Amino acid sequence: MRIAVAYSSKLGLQKEYGKNVSEELPDQEEEPPSLDFFAEGDSEETINAVMNALRSKGHDVCGVEADDKAPENLSRIRPDIVFNIAEGLFGDFRESYIPMVCERLGIPYSGSGPLTLAICLNKARTKEILSYYSIPNAKFATFHAGEEINLEGFKFPAVIKPVAEGSSKGIFDDSVVHDIGTAKKRIVEKLKIYRQPVIVEEFLEGREFTVAVWGNGENIEVLPIVAINYDELPEGAHKIYSYEAKWVWDTPEKPLDIFQCPAKLSSKEKKLIDSLVKRTFTVLGVRDLCRIDVRFDSNGVPNILELNPLPGILPDPEDNSCFPKAARTAGYPYADMLDNVVKIAAARYGLKKGCAVKQ
Ligand SMILES: Nc1ncnc2c1ncn2[C@@H]1O[C@H](COP(=O)(O)OP(=O)(O)O)[C@@H](O)[C@H]1O
Ligand SMILES: [Mg+2]
Repeated sequence: MRIAVAYSSKLGLQKEYGKNVSEELPDQEEEPPSLDFFAEGDSEETINAVMNALRSKGHDVCGVEADDKAPENLSRIRPDIVFNIAEGLFGDFRESYIPMVCERLGIPYSGSGPLTLAICLNKARTKEILSYYSIPNAKFATFHAGEEINLEGFKFPAVIKPVAEGSSKGIFDDSVVHDIGTAKKRIVEKLKIYRQPVIVEEFLEGREFTVAVWGNGENIEVLPIVAINYDELPEGAHKIYSYEAKWVWDTPEKPLDIFQCPAKLSSKEKKLIDSLVKRTFTVLGVRDLCRIDVRFDSNGVPNILELNPLPGILPDPEDNSCFPKAARTAGYPYADMLDNVVKIAAARYGLKKGCAVKQ
């Protein structure tokens, strides 16, 4: 197939940042971006690994930056399919950009559509939909800048996070709070830094898992479940997968052995998680692939934390990227995993194998 990999490179995001900040704040002094501002950009290494892996499967592959020129470039290239990993940088619809462009141009693309990507980026909207379908998730409240913060009756500990971020952006060890006073302080801080509403959730005390799922319709498959083992965190750290756990305490020199795949689960627990994530995948209208975070509450009931319909797919096993880890455990090395996502997406569009595969 002729595949265009659409990405948001770290360099591309830095350019976009410069442009938007000077446009947004013409009279103000530019504040440096927060520590975790660029946590989401794709590195050159990841972009090249994805392109080379797809090439190794016989595809004809090029790359497209998800920038202002993407519509023009995609329209010119007219690939059989776009392999979308572009997360964007600004706004509520940043992950929907490439799907929107592809829809407009009539080009097939892998993964979820603009609406699902936008909803899943917003943890509160996602939880509202989950609640509508009676899918267990932690009790929560959302606060906007300038709004009175009323947490009467809210159970502690609680977790405080920006409503629409990923990659543990805005989720630091001190995001877990134990009383109303600290909660209010933390909410005000995060409203200011992340310039978006803040969500406060009751803390789910049980074990945590992240679950890779792929397929569509009747053929949704749950890959081997990954457990997150918090005993590995430094002493005194809160038991969450924070920015520090993801990006600071886990280094190639001193890796945190935090993941276990396949997770040790009883067959009953496995079944519960299995049906929970499949149902969640379906009600949110996810397509092709997703990584879903799940955590048990104190009664052993699995709750949904959030969905990642554009899951990280870092190539190096040392990077502890969980979708590739689960796929590897299921017998799909990196290139096979990517090729299977292409196959799943292509099948959804009814693209014919024969005309699509490069001879
Ligand atoms: N309600 C909660 N109860 C317990 N832990 C939570 C809760 N919400 C978030 N966490 C912890 O914070 C981590 C990051 O939160 P998550 O919502 O998955 O954000 P991100 O989009 O950054 O992955 C989770 O993996 C989990 O460890
Ligand atoms: Mg998460």
